[in-house]
Amino acid sequence: MPELDLNFVRSQFPAFSEPSLDGWCHFENAGGSYPCKQVVERLNNLYTRAKIQPYGISPIQIEAGQAMDDAYERLAGYLNVGVDEVHFGPSTSANTYVLAHALRGMWEDGDEIIVSNQDHEANAGAWRRMASMGIVVKEWRVHPETGHLDLNDLHGLITDKTRMIAFPHASNVVAETNPVAEIAAIAHAAGAICVTDGVAQAPHGLPDVQALGADIYMFSTYKTWGPHLGLMTVKRDLLKKMTNQSHYFNDGKPRNMITPAGPDHAQIGAAAGIADYLDAIYAHHWDDFDSTPIAERGRKVHDLFAVHEKKLLAKLMGWLTARDDIKMVGTADPELRAPTVSFVPLKKKHADILATLNDHKVMAKSGDFYGVRPLQGMNIPLDPGVVRVSFLHYTTEGEIDQLIGGLQVALD
Ligand SMILES: Cc1ncc(COP(=O)(O)O)c(C=O)c1O
Repeated sequence: MPELDLNFVRSQFPAFSEPSLDGWCHFENAGGSYPCKQVVERLNNLYTRAKIQPYGISPIQIEAGQAMDDAYERLAGYLNVGVDEVHFGPSTSANTYVLAHALRGMWEDGDEIIVSNQDHEANAGAWRRMASMGIVVKEWRVHPETGHLDLNDLHGLITDKTRMIAFPHASNVVAETNPVAEIAAIAHAAGAICVTDGVAQAPHGLPDVQALGADIYMFSTYKTWGPHLGLMTVKRDLLKKMTNQSHYFNDGKPRNMITPAGPDHAQIGAAAGIADYLDAIYAHHWDDFDSTPIAERGRKVHDLFAVHEKKLLAKLMGWLTARDDIKMVGTADPELRAPTVSFVPLKKKHADILATLNDHKVMAKSGDFYGVRPLQGMNIPLDPGVVRVSFLHYTTEGEIDQLIGGLQVALD
C-alpha cells in the first residue's frame, strides 16, 4: 500500500489554497467537508453553461443529462451497486422520511421494526413515527457507559414479525464503526431488511455496499467532499416492492419512485466530481488504473484513506485518553472507530473551550449534533452536550498538533 500523498490530496481542494482560510484547521468535518475541486468545477460549469432542463436534443441539454448520468453510473461503480440502485434526494433526513412512507405499504399492522438509539435523528424519527401507522417500534439500546450497540441485545429483540433493522454504520457522536455485514446477515436470517445510515462513516472512504450487504445504505454527499445531497442505495428487488412516492405516472421508474423532491439537477451532475476525485487519487497512487475495476479502485482508496486517518486518530486519542479532566464518548481504540471524537469536559465550560480553540484557529463545535437519543442513552446532558472534533483524510499531522495545542490550553 502506498502512503497517502497529502500534498496531492490537498491540491485537489480549493479551500486549502484559499487565503482567507490560511492557518485555519477544519475540525467540524462530521458536520460537512470541504468540497473537492472536481465537484466545484462541475457545479460551476453546470450553473454557468448547462443550467437547463436536462435530456433534450440540443448539445447543452444533452450535456446536462450526461452529467447526471455520469454521477449515477460512476458513483454506483465506486459503491459497487447497480446504476438503478442509486438515488439522490435533498438530504438523508428527507430520504428516510420518504423511505418510511415507501416501506409502510410492504408491512402489515402489528409488524415490527428495530431502530437503534445510537442514531442521528435522521435515521430515527421517521421510523419511530411509524408507531402511529400501526407498526411496532422496538429500540436497540446503546450501553449507557460505552455507547456500544451489542449484537446480543439485537438478537433478543428479533421475532418472526421483524421487518427492518435500522442503525448507523457509525454514530456521529459515538463513532464506533458497527459491523454492518454481520448485522445485515442477522437481519436477512430473520427475513428483515437492513437499513444503514452511513453518513458518519462514508466520508472516511466510500464503502463497498454490496460487501456490506445493507438493503438500504444512505449518506450525505456534502460530507463526502461533494454537493449538498443525500445519496441512498436501495436494492433493486426491494425498490420494486415499495410504494411509489412520486407522481402516479412515475410508478415503476427507479429514478423517480423514492425521490419526489427531485433535487437540483446540477448538484447531481456535480456529484460525479466525487468519482473524478477518487479517480485522481487512484491514478496518482497506483499505475494500473485502466486494468483495475472501479469497485476495486474504490476499496483500495478507502483503505489508503483509512491508514492515514487511523494514524492521526491514534495520536489524538492517545493524548485525549491520558487526561482525567474529560470523559470520552465511545471506544478509545482508533481501529474500531471513525475520527469523529466527542468528549464531555469535566472542569471547563464547552463555550470557553471552543473560544480557546478558535483563538488557535481550530474550528470545532459543541452540542447534541442531533444525536439526541444516543446522548440521552448515555446520560449525557443535551445542554451543553459534547465537544466534538472530527477530521478526514485531508487532515495533516500538523493540524492534529494544532488541535492538541489548542486543547492543551483550553483544558489546563
Ligand atoms: C450520522 C448522521 N446521519 C444523518 C445525518 C443527516 O444528514 P442530512 O443533513 O443529509 O439530513 C447526519 C448529519 O449530520 C449525520 O451526522
